[in-house]
Amino acid sequence: MSESITSVLQENRVFEPSEHFRSGIGPNYVPDLQTYHARFKRSIDDPSGFWGEVADGFNWFKKWTSVVEWKLPDARWFVGATTNVCDNCIDRQVRDGHGDDVAILWEGEPSTLATTDDAEVRRLTYSQLQLEVSRTANALKSLGVRRGDVVTIYMGMVPELAIAMLACARIGAPHSVIFGGFAPPAIVDRAQDAKSKIIVTCDGAWRRGHIVPLKANVDEACEKLPDVASVLVVSRTNCPVNMRAGRDHWWHEIVPTQSTDCPCEEMDSEDLLFLLYTSGSTGKPKGICHTTGGYMVYTAFTAKMTFNLVPDRGQVFFCTADIGWITGHSYIVYGMLPNRVPTVMYEGAPNFPAEDRIWAMIERHKITHFYTAPTAIRAFMKWGDEHPHKHDLSSLLLLGTVGEPINPEAWIWYHEKIGSSRCPIVDTMWQTETGGHILTPLPGCTPTVPGSCTLPFFGVDAAIVDENGAELPANQGGLLVIRRPWPGMLRGIHGDRARFIETYWSKVKGMYVAGDGARRDERGYFWIMGRIDDVINVSGHRLGTMEIESALVSHESVVEAAVVGIPHEIKGTGIAAFVTLAPQYKGVADNALRKRLMDHVSKEIGPIARPDMIRFTASLPKTRSGKIMRRLLRDIAAGKESTQDTTTLEDFAVLAKLREVDE
Ligand code: WT7
Repeated sequence: MSESITSVLQENRVFEPSEHFRSGIGPNYVPDLQTYHARFKRSIDDPSGFWGEVADGFNWFKKWTSVVEWKLPDARWFVGATTNVCDNCIDRQVRDGHGDDVAILWEGEPSTLATTDDAEVRRLTYSQLQLEVSRTANALKSLGVRRGDVVTIYMGMVPELAIAMLACARIGAPHSVIFGGFAPPAIVDRAQDAKSKIIVTCDGAWRRGHIVPLKANVDEACEKLPDVASVLVVSRTNCPVNMRAGRDHWWHEIVPTQSTDCPCEEMDSEDLLFLLYTSGSTGKPKGICHTTGGYMVYTAFTAKMTFNLVPDRGQVFFCTADIGWITGHSYIVYGMLPNRVPTVMYEGAPNFPAEDRIWAMIERHKITHFYTAPTAIRAFMKWGDEHPHKHDLSSLLLLGTVGEPINPEAWIWYHEKIGSSRCPIVDTMWQTETGGHILTPLPGCTPTVPGSCTLPFFGVDAAIVDENGAELPANQGGLLVIRRPWPGMLRGIHGDRARFIETYWSKVKGMYVAGDGARRDERGYFWIMGRIDDVINVSGHRLGTMEIESALVSHESVVEAAVVGIPHEIKGTGIAAFVTLAPQYKGVADNALRKRLMDHVSKEIGPIARPDMIRFTASLPKTRSGKIMRRLLRDIAAGKESTQDTTTLEDFAVLAKLREVDE
């Protein structure tokens, strides 16, 4: 991490807004910085006026009595209003005469030809989506789902995933989507925490030509989930599955026969729309709560402004995230559909059947907006320039990145090789908790500097402060905070009020603490330096070091484990684990055991949590009060001489031993 910070600090190339973009995009909503600053100022001085006007663009059954009410740490938006997110995503477009417009453009992974010209493509119009979502909503009702019940969704990237989410929104049943790459124990934790009685899944999911056995994973999880009474299964891969009578139902057997009449429930603006579990410093993943009105308005408005979305101009938007993460929730589904620009959903891996898959898709679908993560960009770079060069990428107008700080080298490659030096790059900084972008350039408006996410979005009163909440001068590193509520902010952690307050609202009095260290430069641009808690960002995915440690110690051979992040060429941050073995295993501390432990973590959490390196050690360095000295371990894992003061080390010998190469 620290290396990438220094390289970021030295970056000062400025890229002015692109003329190519300005002439190709249609109306440029925020044409210059002066306009940005004026609108930003208004959004901060008069949030009710500003957000009231934005919200007027949506369909409400009942209007609000006040735009925002804030009693720290609780904010309520569009108070007293009622609406339905599904109505605003779908029905509204149909009512307005756009039923035949493409809403979702889906491409499946399987492809027999290296050229992928035989790709399986499905285009769902708003009218089709309305029918499918209504039938699915009725199917959920027939399985006993009522308003307020949490529906767990564990699926691959198939259209039915978006359909299931929208069906939940339609009937007021919050969903909890679990990333399809997670393992059965992760399903158990989340479904239990949410008290979910139903799981929607697929038989399997295609991933790099192989089948991920989703239904079998659900079966395994259900052994520990006695309250799950129904499982709804989409047939996608035709892999063999066990269907348990009375509990399991095929989607294709019960959905198509349902009535297409399913009115949208009238939801309160503050009713729960969904839970999404994310990692924190301690304990199990926390269920982040997002509600109806504020999230809907914030995601659709950030999508519109950050990507300058304009309907009827041939724009096609492709976000490569999986819907199992917040990026997919907000910028494949909820933020996109109200803007009426087709959203591309891709099922599989970026290198299947070949490393040019993504570029072939951009050419095939004339994609104008491409949104991905720095880790993917670094992989594309490594695979070689010949892959993008083979394809016509001239449809592209805008590029985006999200998930972690982007190293300037990757930024420049993206700009030149993918954007032909004429597409703006929006480096969007946000979190599961923020619902949508909080720091981001606006295209055609904000000059960009590689590695900086530039300026706050409208209504986001972001600052860099010290622990007392005092704003720090330019270029001094501190805590990233937000000093007032914004519509997309989380409303809580499911079932854990104390953790909500402790995590976000207690470190600095009266402010939302994001958990990132950052600085602002003399231009006012933000530079994210990395997490300040025990969260690591692996390939743009958040993992708690404690979750991985718990997975390790659940193995019979492990007594104690400490996990830290290490710099990694592609992932940004890799996972290093220091492990103390039980006495009977000390003689077998070899690569075979390393591999078994790595497999064990994959099985407990999922392949994304698999350690890149495991170091066996007789003991872990601790302070006198018993805290593991993680910074020291980070330095050792990264092969650096530690600069940290080690005078509080419990046992100096531990340090010397850890440095010894043990392979
Ligand atoms: C953490 C949030 C919501 C996007 C996907 C990740 C880091 C995210 C950036 C960026 C620097 C970034 C932060 C943040 N992060 N985007 N553009 N530049 N850092 O969501 O899993 O909730 O993780 O990702 O550290 O706190 P998440």
